[in-house]
This record gives sequence, C-alpha cells and structure tokens, in this order.
Amino acid sequence: MAFGPVRFSPPECCSSAPTFPQPPRLLPGSQRSGRSLSDAQGWRHVCQGTGAGLLQPKADRPRWVSVPVGVSSRSRGMLRRAGPSLRHVLLERANSAGHSLRFSKAKMSRPVQARRLEGVDKNIWVEFVKLATTHATVNLGQGFPDFPPPDFLREAFVRAVSGENHMLHQYTRAFGHPPLVKILAQFFGKLLGQELDPLTNVMVTVGAYQALFCCFQALVDEGDEVIIIEPFFDCYEPMVKMAGGTPMFIPLRPKAPKAGQLMSSADWQLDPAELASKFSKRTKAVVLNSPNNPLGKVFSRGELELIADLCVKHDALCISDEVYEWLVYDGKEHVRIASLPGMWDRTVSIGSAGKTFSATGWKVGWTVGPTRLLQHLRTVHQNSVYHCATAAQEAVAQGFQRELERLGQADSYFAHLARELQGKRDRLVQSLDAAGMKPIVPEGTYFLVADISAFASDVPNTTGSDEPYDSRFAKWMVKNKEDATLKAANDILQKWKREKAGP
Ligand SMILES: Cc1ncc(COP(=O)(O)O)c(C=O)c1O
Repeated sequence: MAFGPVRFSPPECCSSAPTFPQPPRLLPGSQRSGRSLSDAQGWRHVCQGTGAGLLQPKADRPRWVSVPVGVSSRSRGMLRRAGPSLRHVLLERANSAGHSLRFSKAKMSRPVQARRLEGVDKNIWVEFVKLATTHATVNLGQGFPDFPPPDFLREAFVRAVSGENHMLHQYTRAFGHPPLVKILAQFFGKLLGQELDPLTNVMVTVGAYQALFCCFQALVDEGDEVIIIEPFFDCYEPMVKMAGGTPMFIPLRPKAPKAGQLMSSADWQLDPAELASKFSKRTKAVVLNSPNNPLGKVFSRGELELIADLCVKHDALCISDEVYEWLVYDGKEHVRIASLPGMWDRTVSIGSAGKTFSATGWKVGWTVGPTRLLQHLRTVHQNSVYHCATAAQEAVAQGFQRELERLGQADSYFAHLARELQGKRDRLVQSLDAAGMKPIVPEGTYFLVADISAFASDVPNTTGSDEPYDSRFAKWMVKNKEDATLKAANDILQKWKREKAGP
C-alpha cells in the first residue's frame, strides 16, 4: 500500500476503465459492408441489391462494395467479379488513404496478436484503479501523491504555457528539451562525480516507464537473461518478456527483526551465494530498484557493491530504477550504483519528475548513462514516441535549476518532501501495528508492506476461488470500506481489531 496519499480523489480521467471507440461489428463473409468510403476521397458506393439496409448480416440485405470513382461501370462489374483479392487491394488503397479498417471487406481470420504479447496482458494497476474508482475508496495501491507539486514548479509550468515563448508549445529536441538535458547533466554529474554531456549522456522520456521500456527494447535480446530482484515493480517482468528475454528472479529474504521491534525493509536481504548462482554467460542485465517499490528497501552501499562486483565479473549491465531517490528516511543514504567502481560504463540510471516533484501526471522521466548504452535507447525512442511534451520539460528544467541551488539544504524541496512523507509513514506504521497487522517499516518510497496473516481466516472467500487471501483481502477492503481518508482507514482497522478481540 502507498502511504503518500492521505486523501484520494481519483482524477477524472481515471474514473473508469479507458474506453475506445468501438469498431463496428464485422459482418460475416461477403456480406460485410464497405459502406461509407466517401466520394470526396475518390470513392463512392455501389449498391448490389435493393433496399436501404446497411451493416446488417442477413443474406437478403443489400451488399455493398466500394470501387473508385472514375472506374467505368464495365470495369466496376469486372472488379466485383474479380473476387476478394482485387477488392482487397482496392480496400487497402482506401485504408492507406486514411480510411478506417472498419470499412474493410477483408476477413481477418489469422491471429492478430503478436506473440510477444502472450501472457503479458494482465495489469494490476488497471484492475485496482478501476476498483478504487468504482468504490470511491482510498487508493493505497498506485504510487502518486494527493497533494499538488510545489508552487515553484506549478508556476514554472504556467509561465511555460502562458508566456511569450510560443515555441514552448511546439516540438522540441527529440531526446530531451535542451534546458532540461543541460540541467540534468549538471545535477546528476555532480551526484555521480562524473562530467556528463547533456546531448549524449542524458535522454528525456515519457516518464520512467518509457525509460524502462527503452532499456529493455534496446539492450535485451532473444535468449538473454535478466535478473530481477523480488519483490519488484510489476512492469519489469512483462517488459523483459516483450523484448524476448527471460526473467531470472532472486528474492530478498527476510531475517527476523530484533526482539520487540517491528521488521524494517532493511531486514530483507539478498543471499550473496544465491545471487551469484543466478549469473551466467546468458545474463545480460540486472534490474535494480533502490529505493524499492514495494518494500521501501534502500540498498546499502555494501549490498550495491555485491551486485556491482557480480555485474563486472559477468560483464552484465545494470538497469537502475531510482525514481524514489529523494524519498529516503531516517537519515539513510541513497547510493547510486553508477557511482561505484566499474559501474558507470554498464549502468543506465532512471529517474522521474513524477516522483521527484510530486507531478506524476506530467510523465517526464529520464535516463542517464554512457553514450555506448544511451545511443541504443535513442534508437528505440526515435522509433516509438520520438518526443516528450515541451512545456512540462521546460517546467521540470526550472525545478531542477532551483533544487541545484539548494542541494543538501533544509529548504530544498527534496529534503522537505522526505520529511513530510516520513511523518506519514510513521502514522501509517502506527495504525497498522495498533490494528494487529505487522508493518514492515520502509526506509524509503511511499509504499508499505504489512503482514496480514493474523487476519487470514477472517477474509471472506465468497467466490470459492483459489485466489490468495492477501489479494482477496485487498479487494474486500476496497469493496466494503467506502471512505477515502487515511483517518477512516485507521478507524476501520481499529474497529476491526476491537471486533476481533470480542466483547
Ligand atoms: C519503481 C517505479 N519505477 C518506475 C515507475 C514509473 O514512473 P513514471 O510515472 O515516471 O513513469 C514507477 C511508478 O510508480 C515506479 O514505482
């Protein structure tokens, strides 16, 4: 669950599952209609029957085909008799001229789904955002704040869209708006102790999500293995598979907390021998996510050195998802793996303005790394989204400019955000603990994992399915507890605890 949000009001755009214009139902066999290819575009309709019915799958209804205007009636007759292949060619011409496939007479009997999509169609966020909005409950699933980005960032966006510089409404440089890549190079160069070239060592993406997608598409090949540390952010696995790679999972294993203490995310550790056993000559990359979603674990320097040594030994890459780099609590240090010996040259570091400036809807992300890696990410980027929103990039650039001047100071937004969220973390930990759940105290991020095994037998299994109880528990909470505040969640848990304890 995420503890960043205290109050969740779903954005309008999330109020239901996305809807798309429905293609018209295709009619069976030769009776499918090619109804409205417009005359203006060089096509007109030829009715092969009588009456006015359209798009109706009955044999006695008129049949419609499309032929180009300018073709003589004799030719048209030939075309009709020419059978599906010639008509298909003509229809393809129509489609390539901008017409929708819904007018095509071609029957699609072949599988339409690319093989790379097999088994990757389910998405937990789609499922839970829908549940949360349907039941108006607090959305403890998806990681986004319910508070606005800082004033200085919002003001920068307003200036970008309403100022004199109309070019901020137009395309900018494909691999990143110049002011943004410049400041990112300066900022991360300082943190990594590395001189960065804004044009080759930084690439701006549509959120960290697209940065990840570019990494897997650009760097993972058929047959490559990619090591993923469990528990992990859900998209790593499908993205590796879509690239043709094989995910190799390695769990963080819990060790018992000190007597009388709650477990911390620091108690979840990699077994060095087990980690080493996952590497082979097929290993192309390791995905590292520190601070980790969902445990909140902040990998220590020693743990990162262990991973780094194995990467160097096996000549493997590291895809380092650091979107929560500023959300680190209790004075813990966020160590950037790219700064460790031998790692700059083999690491792509990924960041997100969404998490950094509490503006997840802006979808500005970035990658930082050596040219030899980023050049391939650029190839994926230029052949997919190509370009990110200019005004949002301009505002994020100004946000970083401000933060660079305050880096390490108490009035930096990054320091303020961590302080703020640490307080919320403590409150949630306290209320879960009081209710008899066992929270794992996160060292970073806005996520928290709690052990609910004490409640396992209380979770109703109305469907009789073999769905795990934690999944049923989450859904049951969403469906039955309709108040969207953390305080309400706390009250519910306390009440539940009292009921469980009995009279
Ligand atoms: C670990 C992790 N990586 C990447 C992302 C995606 O970030 P963005 O919103 O910038 O695409 C998220 C979002 O929740 C995340 O938790």
